[in-house]
Amino acid sequence: MLGTDLIRVLEAAHTVVGVDVDELDIANRKAVQDQVTALSPEVLINVAAYTDVDGCEEQEDVAFRINADGATNLALECKGKRIRLIHVSTDYVFDGKRQGPYREEDPASPLGAYGRSKWEGEQRVREILPEACLVRTAWLYGRAGRNFVEAILEQANRKKRLRVVDDQRGSPTYTLDLAKALGVAAEKELRGTYHVTNQGACTWLEFARKILDLAGRKNVEVEPVSTAESGRPAPRPANSVLECGKFEKATGMHLRPWPEALKDYLQGR
Ligand SMILES: NC(=O)c1ccc[n+]([C@@H]2O[C@H](COP(=O)([O-])OP(=O)(O)OC[C@H]3O[C@@H](n4cnc5c(N)ncnc54)[C@H](OP(=O)(O)O)[C@@H]3O)[C@@H](O)[C@H]2O)c1
Repeated sequence: MLGTDLIRVLEAAHTVVGVDVDELDIANRKAVQDQVTALSPEVLINVAAYTDVDGCEEQEDVAFRINADGATNLALECKGKRIRLIHVSTDYVFDGKRQGPYREEDPASPLGAYGRSKWEGEQRVREILPEACLVRTAWLYGRAGRNFVEAILEQANRKKRLRVVDDQRGSPTYTLDLAKALGVAAEKELRGTYHVTNQGACTWLEFARKILDLAGRKNVEVEPVSTAESGRPAPRPANSVLECGKFEKATGMHLRPWPEALKDYLQGR
């Protein structure tokens, strides 16, 4: 999802090669070596991951192979070759107990297997390549993937009443906006860890209501349900709002408020 928008945004000003899992399995060290040597990029942006949060609970070994070993392979390949690595990570490295937005230096304490595998990936990237740029983001939706916005609209076609979680808070983020931010991170040669999301925050329930409102589906009711009641296998943080001031200060770039980005996404569907 993010990779597709990233290629679209970056190819306006750069030579971009996008590789999906069929062409390169990042968990395969030899394949990474061969591909990176053949392409010899100036910048390598890793948006590949095992992103099925519930699936990771059942397949923690696979999650670690892709999200931790895969990230390690890429970092090892960039080391000593003057290839700048930008690695994308997640708000789910946090446990959600903090009252306000999370800063980059706040301690990670992932609740589930997905977050643990991504946190391990982050740590290994930092250790191998201290000059790498790590970008944590959250609650992504975009044109090229299954996502919450599409799931809500699809359910609204079948039901008059939806049940949506109201005790998790985060920042919905449009992959097109994040892709632009990653382009800026590459151009500005950022190093270290940064949080990047669209501005503002909401619960999944508020997000769902806004989606239906903007899509002209006000006739569909949304009822609150708790995380416990929702019965999803993976635990999720109650608060994963990310403080993005460090990125804004470093780049001068402010991502737009999430309702504005959502409106744009819906208009372009
Ligand atoms: N989605 C979110 O809400 C969210 C939130 C915070 C952070 N992030 C992070 O943002 C990044 C992009 O997420 P996304 O939503 O765009 O995810 P996505 O749509 O699931 O894209 C991830 C891609 O990685 C590919 N992949 C899986 N295993 C691979 C492997 N071993 N080698 C190479 N490619 C592999 C997947 O292929 P298949 O589809 O064929 O498996 C998929 O095309 C990830 O780092 C994710 O952890 C996402």
